Amino acid sequence: MTEILKHLNKKFEYKKTQEILEYFLKKYKGEITFSSSFGAEDQLLTDMISKIDKDTKIFTLDTYVLPPETYDVMKKTDARYEITVQSYQPTYEELQQLYKRQGLNGFYESVENRKDCCFVRKIVPLKKALKGMRVWITGLRAEQSVTRTEMQLLEWDEGNDIIKLNPLVLWTHEEVWTYIKENDVPYNELHDKGYPSIGCAPCTRAVKEGDEIRSGRWWWENPEHKECGLHFK
Ligand code: ADX
Ligand code: SF4
Repeated sequence: MTEILKHLNKKFEYKKTQEILEYFLKKYKGEITFSSSFGAEDQLLTDMISKIDKDTKIFTLDTYVLPPETYDVMKKTDARYEITVQSYQPTYEELQQLYKRQGLNGFYESVENRKDCCFVRKIVPLKKALKGMRVWITGLRAEQSVTRTEMQLLEWDEGNDIIKLNPLVLWTHEEVWTYIKENDVPYNELHDKGYPSIGCAPCTRAVKEGDEIRSGRWWWENPEHKECGLHFK
């Protein structure tokens, strides 16, 4: 009996998320966009979004230092859903300035340097990607980290002047994976190699079974610093 109830709960959770997406994708057509890092949550959302409206703008912030496996899943995703995920990158000049300030691997030296690198490689391109948009969909989940427990389904992003929609806010890690398996969603092969959360190659490493989901991200920093500024200032 508990198994049936669990199964039904999951079905209703899927349905609710799909309905939320349907509502927003229709109401804000042409002014709504989804940012994907090609992690598990984002692959789930790409699956749902492209089944509702393939014309939705999906973009990724290509920092130029993503793991090769992420570039692989990028290609697979485009092919599987017959879409083109748009890439946004830092400019050559911006990178030259960054290297002048902190050298090639300066982000390991201090939180300030790390945030500067994230700013140049992610935040500046993000601003370009969100230009002209009214709603920004993300794959954030509340249980991912101590920095995310207060997040809501809908938020006003003051810095970017945009409505933020977090359809997976209440989803658990297990639910995400059940959806991925049931719907045969392509995913980053690093997830099978001990990487529950994946960012840039130099700042992500594998974790041990049972470790915090994001403990492999910026592993040399304290948990309360582990945001790149995309979401929480
Ligand atoms: S991060 O801020 O620590 O890098 P995380 O990897 O947990 O974020 O991803 C949370 C959400 O931020 C993703 O679901 C996605 O919407 C967005 N995001 C993170 N990294 C990128 C990226 N490189 N490109 C596009 N979106 C991203
Ligand atoms: Fe730079 Fe690391 Fe931030 Fe990527 S995650 S932008 S490499 S500091």
